[in-house]
Amino acid sequence: MSELVEKIDKQKLPKHIAVIMDGNGRWAKEKGEDRLYGHYHGVDSVRNIVEGCAELGIEYLTLYAFSTENWDRPEYEVEGLMELLVSTIRKEVEGLNKNNIRLHVIGNMEMMPEYARGELQEALDITKNNIGLNLVMALSYSGRWELLNAVQKIASEVKQNKLSVEEINEQTLQNHLCTANIPDPELMIRTSGEFRISNFLLYQLAYTELYFTEVRWPDFRKKNLYEAILDYQNRERRFGKTSEQITN
Ligand code: IPE
Ligand code: IPE
Ligand code: MG
Repeated sequence: MSELVEKIDKQKLPKHIAVIMDGNGRWAKEKGEDRLYGHYHGVDSVRNIVEGCAELGIEYLTLYAFSTENWDRPEYEVEGLMELLVSTIRKEVEGLNKNNIRLHVIGNMEMMPEYARGELQEALDITKNNIGLNLVMALSYSGRWELLNAVQKIASEVKQNKLSVEEINEQTLQNHLCTANIPDPELMIRTSGEFRISNFLLYQLAYTELYFTEVRWPDFRKKNLYEAILDYQNRERRFGKTSEQITN
């Protein structure tokens, strides 16, 4: 594993890595266990990857933990996930703080149960002065909800004459997204062999390098993170230009 880390070019690290943590349910089922068992083990992977990103000096790590659509899962699973979220935050906040990690949350907090909101707010406050890794948890989040929310906020500013239609540009839209002060991810990882975006960061992923792995989230560890970063570092990001324009 140390060999893998050494291969990583520290000058070419992605600033922002986003992850769709998928496959907890299948991982558990393969072991003859309940889906929640997979979610509990997924927390070990979160801890490991947060630590890995902090060690490397990654600036932003966004983890897709719960989507708008996940509210439609069976009630027992949704409740189990909310309780797991709250107990994990309670347990981990001290460690985050010690490691200079700042927590952020993106998503529709109005949908979250009161007790979870309270716990999250506390963790946001405790870590707000930290200047190391920015850990962004996407909770009750979806890209379509975020865009709709941004359009509503912009429309309301126009209605109140704070903004004219002609003034609206890409920056205006970006400023009204949940990620207003966060750079777009350079690398997006999805685990568990699914080749789709599933309503994650639809606007922000426009030029992100996508990395898919068969590894189920509860099995994903630093080694897998390093492999993804190495793969990213071997790609040529052209942003619509020609290869010659990039290399000259
Ligand atoms: C990802 O694992 C975690 C959440 C979406 C909350 P899944 O629960 O989607 O696991 P699979 O995809 O069913 O295996
Ligand atoms: C995406 O995974 C959402 C999260 C990982 C939180 P899903 O398992 O919900 O996505 P689909 O249903 O496979 O598209
Ligand atoms: Mg899934």
